[in-house]
Amino acid sequence: MSVPVIHTIAELRTIATGWRRSGATIAVVPTMGALHEGHLSLVRAALHRADRVVVTLFVNPKQFNSAADLAAYPRTEKEDAAKLASLGAHLLYVPGVAEMYPAGFTTTVSVSRIGEGLCGAFRPGHFDGVATVVAKLFLQTGADVAIFGEKDFQQLQLVRRMVQDLDIPIAILPCGTVREADGLALSSRNVRLSPAERAVAPKLASVLQETAQRLAKGHPLLPTLGQARAAILSAGYREIEYLELRDEADLQPMTRLDRPARLLAAAWLGDTRLIDNVRTSPA
Ligand code: PAJ
Repeated sequence: MSVPVIHTIAELRTIATGWRRSGATIAVVPTMGALHEGHLSLVRAALHRADRVVVTLFVNPKQFNSAADLAAYPRTEKEDAAKLASLGAHLLYVPGVAEMYPAGFTTTVSVSRIGEGLCGAFRPGHFDGVATVVAKLFLQTGADVAIFGEKDFQQLQLVRRMVQDLDIPIAILPCGTVREADGLALSSRNVRLSPAERAVAPKLASVLQETAQRLAKGHPLLPTLGQARAAILSAGYREIEYLELRDEADLQPMTRLDRPARLLAAAWLGDTRLIDNVRTSPA
């Protein structure tokens, strides 16, 4: 079994229109490739939810903050296609940069507020790049449902807001974060960790988990976050970009845990930036 791989909007439209005419529902799973079990869990959810599943693979230059990071992004299209074929995905859409952003392209989709803090504060333009490409992928596929991982929680909430604001007729289905046995969230960036860094990496997840439990038990927010920061840094992380408690629905800052929330963090381990988040709510 193999999965058909297409590169143009025209081919995608022809196939998707045929599916819709035959009454089939369509799910889209947007990715940047280098597929791991986290991505594959989204594809499995998509296969449960719709008759046809399109996986998109596009390393989107507009959402990278540095040319070096873009150049270093892992590219494993052959292996990705083999993994998708074994799951039974129906189509792999791999548009080139000139297909997505032809000469003269000038439109940007920008989701204010929800895209501004957290990762948005440290990666200028990143979420504009994400919103723009995701809007295009939704319009190109005409899918009924799109699957996103909670691993990138701010991205998930931003996409939900965009779909609501722009009346895009697509349902957004979230999937929980897939983790290694030691708790480290699967990420395409984990391959960049040295063995020593890999050993330290799960500390981010375990501190978030412990901190979420402490907050749920009523420990005060600021001192508890301070202890969490100290624990992450003393484990060997070089720098913490943010460690914050935010309202789960609209990602607004919280001064105490009085409603369902997410504890979100981004931190540097050597030259690798890792993000993670966990849910918490008052006991
Ligand atoms: P990428 O980082 O390839 O992730 C694609 C999807 O996989 C996202 O929805 C992400 O949240 C999900 N994912 C990644 N790691 C996961 C894990 N450990 N468990 C569960 N889901 C996980 O996110 C992007 O690409 C891009 O920004 C994109 C949406 C494709 C737009 O370019």
